[in-house]
Amino acid sequence: MPDTNHTIAIVVGARPHFIKCAPLIEKLNQFHDIDIQLIHTGQHYDYALSGAFFEELSLPKPNFHLNVGSAAQDQQIAQILLKLSDVWREINPQLVIVIGDTNTTAAAALSASIHKFPIAHLEAGLREWNKQIPEEINKIVTDSLTDLYLCPTPSAVNNLKNQGITKQVYLTGEITLDLLVKHHIDPKKLSDLLSEYGFSPKGYYFMTLHRASNTDSKEAFYEIIQAIKELKEPVIWPMHPRTSKAAKEYNLMEDLVAIKHLKLIEPLPFHPTQLLISAAKMVITDSGGIIREAYHHHVRTLIIDKQTEWIEIVNEGWAIITGPDKDLISYNIANFTIPIRHSNVLGDGESADRIAKIIYEFISK
Ligand code: UD1
Repeated sequence: MPDTNHTIAIVVGARPHFIKCAPLIEKLNQFHDIDIQLIHTGQHYDYALSGAFFEELSLPKPNFHLNVGSAAQDQQIAQILLKLSDVWREINPQLVIVIGDTNTTAAAALSASIHKFPIAHLEAGLREWNKQIPEEINKIVTDSLTDLYLCPTPSAVNNLKNQGITKQVYLTGEITLDLLVKHHIDPKKLSDLLSEYGFSPKGYYFMTLHRASNTDSKEAFYEIIQAIKELKEPVIWPMHPRTSKAAKEYNLMEDLVAIKHLKLIEPLPFHPTQLLISAAKMVITDSGGIIREAYHHHVRTLIIDKQTEWIEIVNEGWAIITGPDKDLISYNIANFTIPIRHSNVLGDGESADRIAKIIYEFISK
């Protein structure tokens, strides 16, 4: 066995982290002198949001599990800070990798910074320019403390540049693409899945919703449901637990169940999600991850949010921002034409390799 010289901590906690760290861990493992310590904060704990992804993507068992569970943003961040402090008594990483813009991300960046560990931020530089959004706070906090900026898009690099951040900034491409490019859509699996739901290719909508701005506002939630009610073709909606809780709280679950063309299902693993997105007529979502995945599959997205950080996708015409506005959703569903241009602006599916090399160079200095 070679000597282990470099300890790297990767802090994960929410569904998108598990997806993104899979290709990264695979590539980092090619450096035999890197020891990866995987820390799971427990922000997501339901099997459908966590364990299912570890199994599907063959992720290693976390070295540390903080079991923080759900809480308000400040409380969750405080819990993670407290528990990470204990972890740093046991390991002394040369670099802490944080991913995205969740409470886990901001807490891990703050903790690493307090303990004087350099930070690499995967998905650095993205901005929605609205501090009402919990994730925007997390983005700003994380990027303020980051040492190595791994940016998925040119606009992310540009946002940092406009803030005067130009050193150790890399345009890496979007890492989820590595998985998407590697795992092609299997036509047999796709047709089996569509038959299971009784859907025909391009004859249904794929929908998700989980952003606080939609789930925590009864008015917004109601508007979206009204638009869904009017659709003529089937809609499949894997529902985040946060969203089902909101629907029950607003007494809207019965309304939803009564919509005949709407199929409500539990959150899906990564690959079935990709199959369903790839053959959908259109995607209706407030998830940044799903927007990117739909773009990769050349599927149009209605963004049920007031802004997006994925402006390249909007600029190319593959996504339209409607917000939770019934009329705008209905209008755009009827009038959203398929764009001619698709420039693969999110990258080439080789991001993980690029990122692993950048990280190795950074820790080898
Ligand atoms: C979080 C991230 C969001 C990311 C999303 C991916 C923040 C602020 N938000 O949103 O950026 O896009 O993950 O899915 O970090 N819950 C369960 N079971 C779980 C986890 C959560 O029932 O395993 C319920 C709880 O009621 C919880 C609520 O969902 O309060 C919200 O969970 P939380 O992790 O705070 O935010 P997400 O909406 O999942």
